[in-house]
Amino acid sequence: MRRVRLDKAQTGAVVARAIHTLDGVFLLSAGTVLTPEHKEKLQNYGITEIYIEDTISEGIEIPELIREEVITEVKSQVKKMMTSPSIKVSVDVKKVGEIVERLIANILENDRIVASLCDVRSIDEYTFSHSVNVSVISIVTGIGVGMKEDTLRDLGIGALLHDLGKVMVDDTILRKPTNLTSIEYDEVKKHTYYGYEILQKSENISREACDIALSHHERLDGSGYPRRLKSSDIQIFARIAAIADVYDALTTDKVYRRKMMPHDVLDYMLSLGGKHFDKSLLDAFVRHIAYYPVGTAVILNSGEKGLVSEYNPYFPNRPVVRVVIDESGHSLKKYREVDLSKKLEYRVVAVWDI
Ligand SMILES: [Fe+2]
Repeated sequence: MRRVRLDKAQTGAVVARAIHTLDGVFLLSAGTVLTPEHKEKLQNYGITEIYIEDTISEGIEIPELIREEVITEVKSQVKKMMTSPSIKVSVDVKKVGEIVERLIANILENDRIVASLCDVRSIDEYTFSHSVNVSVISIVTGIGVGMKEDTLRDLGIGALLHDLGKVMVDDTILRKPTNLTSIEYDEVKKHTYYGYEILQKSENISREACDIALSHHERLDGSGYPRRLKSSDIQIFARIAAIADVYDALTTDKVYRRKMMPHDVLDYMLSLGGKHFDKSLLDAFVRHIAYYPVGTAVILNSGEKGLVSEYNPYFPNRPVVRVVIDESGHSLKKYREVDLSKKLEYRVVAVWDI
């Protein structure tokens, strides 16, 4: 199995995972042979990537940190909650707590906690997907720094609600595909205050969790907003949510730009360690995020091409690669696996765009 951009998916490819919207609209089932009509339908729903099964990816299983049914159901619940009119007044934090407990329980079931947020989502459903992803990445980072379950629950709640204030911002500004004017940008920035105000009026939520809404755009060097806080003035929950927020935003397709690959985002974020992001939290986060998610097509320095077939938890940027094309560009009849954590002469030099 591997994940491909919809525009690159060949007619005749077999769909490997079912595709549906968060409202439960069923688009395609696993096993469907892709036709141009299917592709058009998915495009119309804003789906940009799908999982396919083909010869080169046969037998590669993509590990899931949280089962797909669970994550889809959770996202639907979040969508329902975020689109109800009462959300502008206060939040049912108990309900959010139940959702977060479910996420934590599912994450802790794994032997190896490696997040690769490989859900197929439509651009239109970004807000809800993003809320859940930021919660998941924050929890994973919290686990990485040794937080206990109660603290993780608190962190997960605040992270899930980090952008709550956007319900108060005019939708036409949030969805604008072109650059914002400075007045519009100032309005967007206010989502931090709006969210904090709603959460303050809600019951059963900790001060630290509320603070995530207010402070997740603050940066260690004081370049963030809304209060331009510096280093230790930014609480640990908000520092974690800031990392999760940027990571998920940059690895997602937006109306105005294509997503970046996880390894590029991680390199970029690591370069901002100590400036924007807390270095020790960044370390914990990077240890649990897949640099090259399983199924990614890559080019090696030898000129060979292949697919990532397995993670190496201690060498996030040195996965196991199934080589399918040799250095002269010939397809191999018999694929071979190269473990980059053992064969140090090999490294990934680029993503193979197939
Ligand atoms: Fe935000």
